[in-house]
Amino acid sequence: MQIKEILKQAPEGQQVTVKGWVKTKRGQANIVFININDGSALKNIQAVVEAGKIDEELLKTVTTGAAVAVTGSLVASSGSGQAVEVMAEKIEVYGPADETFPIQPKKHSLEFLREKAHLRFRTNVFGAVFRIRHTLAYAVHKFYHEQGFFYLHTPIITASDAEGAGEMFHVSTFEPNKAPLTETGEIDFTQDFFGRETALTVSGQLEGELGALALSRIYTFGPTFRAENSNTSRHLAEFWMIEPEVAFFELEDNMNLAESFVKYVIRYALEHCYEDLEFLQNRLMEEEKQKPQNERSELALIDKLKFVVENDFERLTYTEAIDILLKSRPAQKKQFQYDVAWGIDLQSEHERYLVEKHFKKPVILTNYPRDIKAFYMKQDDDLNGAPGPTVRAMDVLFPGIGEIIGGSQREDSYDKLLARVKEVGIDPENIWWYLETRKFGSAPHAGFGLGFERLVLFVTGMTNIRDVIPFPRTPKNAEF
Ligand code: 4AD
Ligand code: MG
Repeated sequence: MQIKEILKQAPEGQQVTVKGWVKTKRGQANIVFININDGSALKNIQAVVEAGKIDEELLKTVTTGAAVAVTGSLVASSGSGQAVEVMAEKIEVYGPADETFPIQPKKHSLEFLREKAHLRFRTNVFGAVFRIRHTLAYAVHKFYHEQGFFYLHTPIITASDAEGAGEMFHVSTFEPNKAPLTETGEIDFTQDFFGRETALTVSGQLEGELGALALSRIYTFGPTFRAENSNTSRHLAEFWMIEPEVAFFELEDNMNLAESFVKYVIRYALEHCYEDLEFLQNRLMEEEKQKPQNERSELALIDKLKFVVENDFERLTYTEAIDILLKSRPAQKKQFQYDVAWGIDLQSEHERYLVEKHFKKPVILTNYPRDIKAFYMKQDDDLNGAPGPTVRAMDVLFPGIGEIIGGSQREDSYDKLLARVKEVGIDPENIWWYLETRKFGSAPHAGFGLGFERLVLFVTGMTNIRDVIPFPRTPKNAEF
């Protein structure tokens, strides 16, 4: 039985066996208290060892970090802090841990724990984070299933660069220095495993669109890879993305879906992870105390989550956002590092101003300039019905995070899409299959991508994306 379940039982002296890892052991003359955790929940169970009940030599090997099984009767606890405890009659030590075990019962920095990523799961913080991560992943599937979406598994190895940013990890079976060359001295990929150049996917979207144009509502939820050399607290080289794609959806429907989706999964976490959230909230409050007053966050973690669930996201166009930014104090006082002008790709300082200072709530920005967005986005018409300078894009921006979702309505006109593909320099031959969907039964459709780790960051209140994925992949780091 998991400790989480044992802790719920009424203490009637029944025999239980608790299996887990020792968090702490405190000794007094006649009695020893051992706190055991098995990761099923934040709470430990306390085992009580009375003098003479357990062999002294064996008891010495019950130290922080050891894996043990304790059998005994479950009784009401006379100490404070727990309702029940186990009166130990038998202890088995599966694996001892000596004093070099790095996760001793004291506060460790997150940086230190990143170096011990193989053991950091044993801490309260990472236990809480990964239980919440699991619950959010479960809620994602639950939401889409309830909405009639089908989970489509798009490929991880692909020949197309969906975002056109050229940030792909190559997949090849060639030895790096023994790749066969063509007559002109380039690598001859026709001799490679797939007979062409392939890479790890940056997005399942293009394949997802093929599914949506038949199954109507699909979503993907899988790993995506970006070889962008951004060493920030918001970027990973390997991250998980959820990408719904819906036929007959326009931009407005897409915004509604994104907003209800994010609210649903956050509400689910509030309902099912309260204890872990409360723990993380307390931890954050301790950290906040170290900060100067003006840098402290206005809302505690749980209130912040409730606020997002209970309030409408602000919706405005990119053009309106630029106007607000141009009139803003930091722009007037030249405090932004990057100048604001129509056409720029918003920097995180601009996004954070809009979300944290101006609106103080999540924001959905739409209709971005087409030159800063991917080729597949649907062109807006100008007032005269001619192609305008913007596309039907939408980004959802969150406080403390910046962009959490990026999406759009898709270009469904074959001619316009083909023209755009050529314009941005993609060889139409490479995505002939994508283009063909606009030839046969093309339909309006839209979708978006939610960066799963950015969602977990927001919900847990953690500040570095490396601390919300079990094994972070970042530039110069793939140790564990
Ligand atoms: O805005 P992006 O690049 O959009 C796409 O990939 C579209 N194909 C999605 C779609 O329309 N189906 O990425 C989507 C989201 C971002 O908003 C961000 O949350 C996350 O993915 N993301 C990253 N998360 C962590 N590390 C990175 N390097 C990320 N790059 C993007
Ligand atoms: Mg984006």
